[in-house]
Amino acid sequence: MTGFFFLLSGEHETLPFAELKAILATKRVKHAELERFPQVLRLDSTLSCVDPIRNRASMTRTCCQELFNCESSLVEIVKAMQFIQLGTLLQQGDTFVVRVHRVGLSARRLTSMALEQKLGELILSKIKGVKVNLKNPLKTFFGIITGDRFLFGLRLATISPTPFLQRGPRKRPFFHPSAMPAKLARCMVNLAGAREGDILLDPFCGTGGFLIEGGLLGCRIVGFDAKKHMVEGTDRNLSFFNLEYDGLGVADAKHLPLKRVDCIVTDPPYGRSASTLGHTTERVIQDFLPASSSSMSQGKRMCIAAPKKVHISKLAEDVGFKLKGSYFVYIHRSLTREILVLEQT
Ligand SMILES: C[S@@+](CC[C@H](N)C(=O)[O-])C[C@H]1O[C@@H](n2cnc3c(N)ncnc32)[C@H](O)[C@@H]1O
Repeated sequence: MTGFFFLLSGEHETLPFAELKAILATKRVKHAELERFPQVLRLDSTLSCVDPIRNRASMTRTCCQELFNCESSLVEIVKAMQFIQLGTLLQQGDTFVVRVHRVGLSARRLTSMALEQKLGELILSKIKGVKVNLKNPLKTFFGIITGDRFLFGLRLATISPTPFLQRGPRKRPFFHPSAMPAKLARCMVNLAGAREGDILLDPFCGTGGFLIEGGLLGCRIVGFDAKKHMVEGTDRNLSFFNLEYDGLGVADAKHLPLKRVDCIVTDPPYGRSASTLGHTTERVIQDFLPASSSSMSQGKRMCIAAPKKVHISKLAEDVGFKLKGSYFVYIHRSLTREILVLEQT
C-alpha cells in the first residue's frame, strides 16, 4: 500500500469526500482513510484506486501519489524534500513541472509561485539530466497547501469539470427548470453504488439527468415519470447522448411497473417547477418509498434528494431503510436540498 492524496472540489464540505469513498467501495478498491484536510483526502491504497476515480468522480479534481506531507512552512518543506527518492519517477532526459495549489486562505505566508520555483530547483539538484518544461511536461509534481499542512506528490490524474458543464441541463435538447445539474447527478449515482451492468431506476425521471449519468457509467437505465411530455423529453435527451434504455414510460411512482432494481437515484417533485400532481412532496415521497423498498433487495442503495423541510430521513426509516448518509446542499434562500443515501435492510 502507498500514500495517495486527492484534491476535492470546494463546492460542498462533505459530499466530495463521500463520493470518492463511495466509488472506491463500489469498485471494491482496498484502501484505508488516513486523514482529511479542507478539500483533501489522504488514503493508503494501491495504484488501482486512481482509474475508478478518474473515470467516475464529478467532485474530485486531482489524484496524486504522495511523496511527503509536512507542516506548511518553507523550512519543513525543504527538509522533507531532502529525504524523498525521485529515482524511480524521473529519469535522465525527462521533463517535469511543479504546480502548487492553495486551498482557500491556507498558509498565506507561502507564495505558490515561489514555492513552485523552489521545489523545481530542489528536484533539478537531486536528479541529473532532467529539465523543467512548463507547457508540456512528462511529469507533474503537485503540492497542496491546505490548512496548516503541505502535501506533495506526483500527479497521476486530473479530472476536468468541463464534460459535466457540457452536458448540463441547458445543453440538452430537452430542458426543464427542475433538472438536476450533471455534477450533482453523477455524484448521486456514485453515492447509490451504481455498478456497470446494474439496473438503475429513476421513478421521477424528469429530463433524464440521473439516467444520463448512470448510462454513461454503463448501467442499464430505467426511467418513469407521471408526465408524458417529460418521458418524451428524457427519450430525446438519452438519444442525444447515444444512450439506450432498458425501460422508459409514463407511470406513477407509487405503482412501479417493475420488480427488481439494483439501485434507485431520484429527485421527487417539490411542487415548484416540477408538478406534484396536486399532492404535497411529503405525500408523494410517502407513497413512493414502500414501492421502492419492495423492488430492492438487501444491501441495495437508493440516493434521493428532497427539500430539507420534508425530513425525508424520518420517512425512509419508517419504511425500514437504513440511513447511510445525509448531506445538505444550499440552493437558494428558500430551498436547501437534503441528499440522502439509504440502504435496504
Ligand atoms: C424534480 S423533477 C425530476 C428532475 C430530474 N431529476 C432531472 O434531472 O430532470 C420531478 C419529476 O417527477 C414527476 N412526477 C411528479 N409526480 C410524480 C409521480 N407521482 N410519479 C412519477 N413522476 C412524478 C414530475 O413530472 C417531474 O418530472
